[in-house]
Amino acid sequence: MVPEFPYARLRRRPDVEAADLQAHDATDLLLVERGLALAAEHGIAGAETAVIGDEYGAITLALTDAGLVGIRVHQDLATGRRALALNAQDLGLAGFSSHELDPALLSGARLVLLQLPKALAELEEIADAVARWAAPDAVLVAGGRVKHMTLAQNEVLGRSFARVQAQRAERKSRLIVATEPLPMPADPPYPVTARHGGLTLVAHGGAFAGARLDIGTRVLLEVLADRAPQLRRSVADSAGSARNGAEPGRSSGVVNGTVIDLGCGTGALAVSYALAHPDARVIATDRSAAAAASARETVAANGVAGQVTVMHDDAGSELPDASADVVLLNPPFHLGSSVHTGAATRLFEAAARLLRPGAELWTVYNSSLGYRAELTRIVGATEQVHRTPKFTVTRSIRRG
Ligand SMILES: C[S@@+](CC[C@H](N)C(=O)[O-])C[C@H]1O[C@@H](n2cnc3c(N)ncnc32)[C@H](O)[C@@H]1O
Repeated sequence: MVPEFPYARLRRRPDVEAADLQAHDATDLLLVERGLALAAEHGIAGAETAVIGDEYGAITLALTDAGLVGIRVHQDLATGRRALALNAQDLGLAGFSSHELDPALLSGARLVLLQLPKALAELEEIADAVARWAAPDAVLVAGGRVKHMTLAQNEVLGRSFARVQAQRAERKSRLIVATEPLPMPADPPYPVTARHGGLTLVAHGGAFAGARLDIGTRVLLEVLADRAPQLRRSVADSAGSARNGAEPGRSSGVVNGTVIDLGCGTGALAVSYALAHPDARVIATDRSAAAAASARETVAANGVAGQVTVMHDDAGSELPDASADVVLLNPPFHLGSSVHTGAATRLFEAAARLLRPGAELWTVYNSSLGYRAELTRIVGATEQVHRTPKFTVTRSIRRG
């Protein structure tokens, strides 16, 4: 039976809101229906139920509203965590708790409901965690939109569960039910580590680009290295690729004040900068918990823990206005699975707020996106410092 839950009252804020963007989808409804049916059939209590990947709280709140008390929830995004808290407040619902992807989330859980993540690596880390820490009779119900699902997801789940059964599609969504958790090897599959010249990157499954150095990130590091050659040690294996387009001398582009890596991912930009500028205070911030955890481990692996602070936060919201001398930005250009520039705009606005007047925003983006006019409008005068067919690097000066 479909519970009469007011899904339409849920909101996405502080995430981007727009007429074509909803705070719930058909997969949430299917997961709630199946979750309630399984809980009733097997006598599973709210405290034995975990929810993972609940974007804005639809699953947790609908189950709580239906009487499951004590649900544990893990959401990767700081925006999703805030949206859940605000939606719970609006609807007068309480009695659930938020966790990282850890034993406290899963220990003793018999029912785990999962909105399938986009990346297989993220799914692999989650499936391993459920098999490793949940109850031996745990049932994992994973759901997604049919158009985004692949057989590889079943294979990944099959590495952690003996039985994996895809259900018939309904309302363009599909559930996969995984049971009989397998014994897991002593070492979990994530985080993974890779070396890039003098830089070590550590990545959890959900972190952008994994332990690879993204090409756009590499291009930005190369351009900065033309202004501060010590940065080159971090990108030694790609030296020279961006040098021709940079314009050394027009600005140092480099300071020893406060530097913010906005949307830091695994922390490649923040840690490269810290290694090259031992006097700079660097803040790496990302709205993804997987990214923040990866960046913390990247910071530790490179021995710059005294110099780099990592924050799990939406668009640097906990940092004071006009507190940065430099912001480094490799913005996202996909919102969910649809191309949407709202997410990048939010970070441009955040950079404008965080920079002192006269301070610099360095941005790298896909050349097809043409962000220069928007950067000029939101931040201040913006020059193109380097351009390849794929990537553009700009420097914006925060207007006074
Ligand atoms: C293209 S990746 C770049 C990651 C990293 N800076 C690098 O260069 O490898 C963009 C990052 O921005 C983060 N992000 C997107 N929207 C954000 C927001 N509102 N606040 C903080 N981080 C955000 C994403 O989680 C992702 O890690």
